[in-house]
Amino acid sequence: MAPPSTPTTDDRAGGPAPPASAAQAPGAEPAPALALENIEVVYHHTVQVLRGLSLAVPEGGIVALLGSNGAGKTTTLKAISGLLPLEVGQLRSGAIRWRGQRIDELEPHQLVRRGIAHVREGRHVFEDLTVDENLVAASYALQGRPGAPRPDTGLIYEYFPRLKERRQLRAGYLSGGEQQMLAIGRALLGQPALMLLDEPSLGLAPLVVQDIFDIIARINREQGVAMLLVEQNAAAAFGIAHYGYIMESGRIVIDGPTARLMADSDVQRFYLGYGDGSSELASFRDVKHYKRRKRWLS
Ligand SMILES: Nc1ncnc2c1ncn2[C@@H]1O[C@H](COP(=O)(O)OP(=O)(O)OP(=O)(O)O)[C@@H](O)[C@H]1O
Ligand SMILES: [Mg+2]
Repeated sequence: MAPPSTPTTDDRAGGPAPPASAAQAPGAEPAPALALENIEVVYHHTVQVLRGLSLAVPEGGIVALLGSNGAGKTTTLKAISGLLPLEVGQLRSGAIRWRGQRIDELEPHQLVRRGIAHVREGRHVFEDLTVDENLVAASYALQGRPGAPRPDTGLIYEYFPRLKERRQLRAGYLSGGEQQMLAIGRALLGQPALMLLDEPSLGLAPLVVQDIFDIIARINREQGVAMLLVEQNAAAAFGIAHYGYIMESGRIVIDGPTARLMADSDVQRFYLGYGDGSSELASFRDVKHYKRRKRWLS
């Protein structure tokens, strides 16, 4: 299946332009900004978690990566942002390219410099620091980077007015949703070109999830930041993503533009929770049980 191309359905202002490719034939699909090509990852030299996984994220696009517990979603993001060695994981084969260049040998700080920001699973904020101090700490981390943009906390507070109201409050006292906003805000401070978001909806109430996803979509639209959005909440992710991949046991089992995935009866049943042909909602238990027996065909 063709990888997703740069979205053309709306006006994406301000996004960093893709590098001009002299080799590109007229009318050909633009090369994706991020490309994972057949990557295999093992933990502790023995446990193979990713098994030839390929995916692509276009400049300025939102791509959802869905899959059940343990499928390898977080491992995929860590492989991109250079965090695998911390987990004794290793990219055994395949390639990861960012704007045409191999990045799979780079250190996390080199990837940050290239504009790749990873918002990790579980809202990592400094709980003893105030909201303001969290943003200042993130700004310090960015200083000294050659050509680094000047961190703009005003921009963060514009996207997250709730954080502005609570700027003097210690992050440990924020709600789960506000902590997630702060984690996204810290990443946004470095004006990334690509954000890797690991389950931003985890443990949050539906209205808060909607709020956060609306802001993610706005950041994408207004700042041109491409997003690779890892989620188990398929409905929320499909609400803002242009293209989706579904993975199981370390492989992509189905992918396509979100509108097509949402119309797919298997996706509806297993990931959106709808019963076959009826509007009845399948229980999580049923879906989980059935999922274990079902083998996806790619
Ligand atoms: N540091 C590690 N050492 C060994 N195995 C690991 C390590 N981290 C993850 N794994 C294993 O790799 C597999 C994929 O884990 P991963 O965290 O990438 O899945 P996930 O799709 O993000 O799951 P979840 O939805 O629960 O967050 C799991 O079987 C997990 O047990
Ligand atoms: Mg995970």
